[in-house]
Amino acid sequence: MKQKRKAGGFGYATDSIKETGKHATKTEFVSLRKNGFRITLDITKRRKMSRSPQFDKYDIAKYDLHPGYSFPDFLEDMIPSGTPEYVDSGQRYVERMIRALFFFKQCALIGPSGTGKTHITYLVAELTGLPVWEVNCGLQTSSYDLIGRFIGLGKENWIDGQVTSWLKYGGVLYLDEANMMKQDVATRLNPVLDTRGHLVLTEKDNELISRHRYAYVIISMNPFSAEFAGTKPLNAAFRRRMSVWVNFDYESIGEKISEREVELLIKRSKIDHATAYKITQVGAEMRRQYQAGDLPYGPSVGDLSHWAVLVVDGADPISAAEETIVALTSDSVEVQADVRRLIESVFKG
Ligand SMILES: Nc1ncnc2c1ncn2[C@@H]1O[C@H](COP(=O)(O)OP(=O)(O)OP(=O)(O)O)[C@@H](O)[C@H]1O
Ligand SMILES: [Mg+2]
Repeated sequence: MKQKRKAGGFGYATDSIKETGKHATKTEFVSLRKNGFRITLDITKRRKMSRSPQFDKYDIAKYDLHPGYSFPDFLEDMIPSGTPEYVDSGQRYVERMIRALFFFKQCALIGPSGTGKTHITYLVAELTGLPVWEVNCGLQTSSYDLIGRFIGLGKENWIDGQVTSWLKYGGVLYLDEANMMKQDVATRLNPVLDTRGHLVLTEKDNELISRHRYAYVIISMNPFSAEFAGTKPLNAAFRRRMSVWVNFDYESIGEKISEREVELLIKRSKIDHATAYKITQVGAEMRRQYQAGDLPYGPSVGDLSHWAVLVVDGADPISAAEETIVALTSDSVEVQADVRRLIESVFKG
């Protein structure tokens, strides 16, 4: 039952939805005609916080992140759908993230590249029915991109940036590579990340934008380590504003091979078990070397599945690796030779 938008504002489409306890309910009127009589039934349905088919796999129903509230229609496309399943070995990452958002409105994800931080953020947004505003802080993100700017003369020519839109409409603000954020941008964001925070648009007559009641933040970053060029410690003021930190790690690393990861690889590429296992072994060893600072990159299960797809298509594993995992790791001839030796030792050894 869609509501019409109110003139001058956004209809929240919740007029027919009222809150009972922790769950929103929706009342629908159904009319039936029988033998000239008209019967009107009043059906009260419990409304789930999302329509995700994966919703019932997780124990999250008690953490409704927008009870009784539906986001406006124009944000519909920004609510993820069809996110692939996320595999873990009992760490309950999804539940822990949703719980953190429920109690504290924000949480931080830390883990090496390719451990699924972006993937799980989209899954969490799908499961909780929240639109995602994604900002990659590692790119040359300026405060114009985040806050907004004038695109011509006159007040009507202002366009909101990602953060301003998120503050107004709610959803998840996903700050990827948050530790790579430039200081001037961090300074603007700090007050907003106080849960009851607001933004003052100094650019626009000091207009005050307050934080929507269903505006959540997820930040993600690679762990800071002296060996890796490029990683930085997170700005201290930013760190204090995050109440819950969730640590991610590779499912398989070094000698530890996770059967779940092997299964995931099989599911994604339809490869046979023995080859999936070997591919995972190569990936696990590369990750170990990456964490030790000996390789510039550790492959994700997504990267490994690209390799597997070419093998299933008929390529032999070593030449399929050349086009995928070897080239992906580095441009350097020496590094590529190291990866090649590792692959040969697993597949021929
Ligand atoms: N536990 C997992 N279950 C299912 N898929 C996974 C898992 N971990 C990683 N992947 C897959 O690996 C690929 C990389 O994941 P993703 O981009 O989310 O990593 P990331 O941690 O955000 O990396 P980066 O730090 O480089 O941004 C994706 O294809 C993702 O679906
Ligand atoms: Mg990512």
